[in-house]
Amino acid sequence: MRAIAECVPHGTAVVADIGADHGLLLVEVLRSGRAARGIACDLREDPLRTAARTAARAGTSDRVELRLGDGLAPLHAGEADVVCIAGLGGATVRDVLTGGEGRLEGVQRLVLNPLRAEHHVRGWLRDHGWDLRAEHEIVEDGHYYAVLVAEPGDDDCDDAYADLELDRDAAMTIGPWIARGPSEHTRRRFEAELEHVQSIPGDRLAPRREVLERVVAFLRAT
Ligand SMILES: C[S@@+](CC[C@H](N)C(=O)[O-])C[C@H]1O[C@@H](n2cnc3c(N)ncnc32)[C@H](O)[C@@H]1O
Repeated sequence: MRAIAECVPHGTAVVADIGADHGLLLVEVLRSGRAARGIACDLREDPLRTAARTAARAGTSDRVELRLGDGLAPLHAGEADVVCIAGLGGATVRDVLTGGEGRLEGVQRLVLNPLRAEHHVRGWLRDHGWDLRAEHEIVEDGHYYAVLVAEPGDDDCDDAYADLELDRDAAMTIGPWIARGPSEHTRRRFEAELEHVQSIPGDRLAPRREVLERVVAFLRAT
């Protein structure tokens, strides 16, 4: 949670957390002084009740607004400076961004922590004019998390992908910054994913398998 919170820049006026659940991310962001106010959004009422209790215990209730709704729908365009989406699958994060793209107007930074399938998110960012500024790999209790930090791009080209000797799909899968300095864990993670995909009978996953084969070949050669 702290690694995600640290991607919110100091001096942020309003940070929105989509899929806030227990509300711990906003507590971390507000208590560290990174943002002045937070908006906790969730699809369900129960998590928002929990987020309210978390904020009360942390003494941040007066700086947190709770909003019920799907994805970015509870936000108004122009009201959040930073939007965080953590702990949802990569395809869901992509769908949330697609469904609420208009509400990202004025947002200066996206902090995204997709669980699995991060390529969907990187693909969306690239296709919608957001530049990837940083990527962090976090390994906690044997689980892998990627945190992606994106900001509005000022031209059609995202420098993160410049001079990278990888095709688009492979770059989206590893991540352009991670590919520049992959760890042992990165390689093992994609070897395990490839092994899993290879174990599934039929041709349905053949395109993904081919991408993963290129990814693993690149990581073994790096
Ligand atoms: C696994 S929790 C993630 C919690 C927290 N963000 C974290 O990283 O620990 C997922 C939360 O997202 C909410 N959620 C799922 N889909 C959503 C959507 N489309 N819009 C808003 N919230 C959503 C769920 O209700 C749940 O509270």
